[in-house]
Amino acid sequence: MDPLSRQALEAFWMPFTANRQFKSSPRLFTRAEGMYYWNHDGRRILDGAAGLWCVNAGHNRPEITDAVARQLATLDYAPTFQMGHPLAFEFANRLVELAPGDLNHVFFANSGSESVDTALKIALAYHRVRGDASRQRLIGREKGYHGVGFGGISVGGMVNNRKFFGSLLPGVDHLRHTLDHEHNAFSRGLPEWGAHLADDLERLVALHDASTIAAVIVEPVQGSAGVILPPKGYLQRLRAICDRHGILLIFDEVITGFGRLGTPFGAHYFDVLPDIITSAKGLTNGAIPMGAVFVRQHIYDAFMQGPEGAIELFHGYTYSAHPVACAAGLAALDIYEREQLLTRAASLSDEWERVVHTLRDAPHVIDIRNIGLVAAIELEPRKDAAGARAYEALTKCFERGVLVRVTGDTIALSPPLIIEREQIAEIVDTLAEVLRTIN
Ligand SMILES: Cc1ncc(COP(=O)(O)O)c(C=O)c1O
Repeated sequence: MDPLSRQALEAFWMPFTANRQFKSSPRLFTRAEGMYYWNHDGRRILDGAAGLWCVNAGHNRPEITDAVARQLATLDYAPTFQMGHPLAFEFANRLVELAPGDLNHVFFANSGSESVDTALKIALAYHRVRGDASRQRLIGREKGYHGVGFGGISVGGMVNNRKFFGSLLPGVDHLRHTLDHEHNAFSRGLPEWGAHLADDLERLVALHDASTIAAVIVEPVQGSAGVILPPKGYLQRLRAICDRHGILLIFDEVITGFGRLGTPFGAHYFDVLPDIITSAKGLTNGAIPMGAVFVRQHIYDAFMQGPEGAIELFHGYTYSAHPVACAAGLAALDIYEREQLLTRAASLSDEWERVVHTLRDAPHVIDIRNIGLVAAIELEPRKDAAGARAYEALTKCFERGVLVRVTGDTIALSPPLIIEREQIAEIVDTLAEVLRTIN
């Protein structure tokens, strides 16, 4: 069967994709290396999106491939319910060395969505085991993306991810988002205006009472909704309000973890210590699915009470700390360390900012946002066809050999952290050319 025929493409129901549109003009990747993919007809595509924000060290790193192959040949699978295997402990030890403050315990999941569900469950159970069981409410944020589990879409704030799926989790409320074109369009780095938007949490505390609120979850930088930045001082203010009211603060760092902003975690970048961090993606360089949830000492301690023989948390996945994922993750950490990739974005971010902002005068551009090695180029939507203009830009960039990501009418860039200056220029030049050709 022709692998590009409609028949060959039919059975796979593709996620977050217009299936019929894709299947009538498919784009298939067949191999990858470093900064590049190759597609089905052998064309090289520069990866401006790190796959899906995950391939931080670039593609097909032999160290990861070897570690995975060795692990599969040694111990393909081991349960971690009342059993263990050495790599799980080794990986957790290595990870907590990287994490900020006393985020020194790790619970393993298999994706960002599972990490988020795990974090929300830990937050609820934490209050209960401390005898504060009335704290059941979870607070997310408009435009937030926390994966696609029921927990994640409930605290998330992207309308299409929520509206089809019933009434979601009860007892959830949302902070207002921080996107403000009027004050902050074309800010370079963090916007100056808007720290006070964090005070929206005080409004929700006044509405629900702090005694009912378990946790607030935010992405330090909102990725999937189009790279929406926290104004200067915003996250500090959110932390202070949480402290004032005994509310846990969860940073969803599935994108910002592992060097995207130029620091190991976003928490380092903003110098704000959350109580829980969720991660995935760059954790294994995208090579094997995995998620990790970091918790602070006081949270772990709260569970380690009662009889020694009692299970402290009734939660876990068949594949928590899968040995092959741990092997991939350890190899990824070695690369990050050896090549200093978790801080490399910091040394490129000025150049990145300068180059992406040259798109300011390109047709259709209404805002540009950047931080670390992430940027958003927001386009004016076409009348009655939201998203169509950015999607056309994606397809035309692809035809010209550059992979970008789009969400609505925002083009998001987040290349592997190994990118070189000429490749930054190539991505932006391609985008400039494409924007000139579309109406
Ligand atoms: C902040 C954030 N949380 C959670 C997720 C979900 O991760 P996954 O797709 O691995 O479930 C994502 C994915 O993009 C994300 O960006």
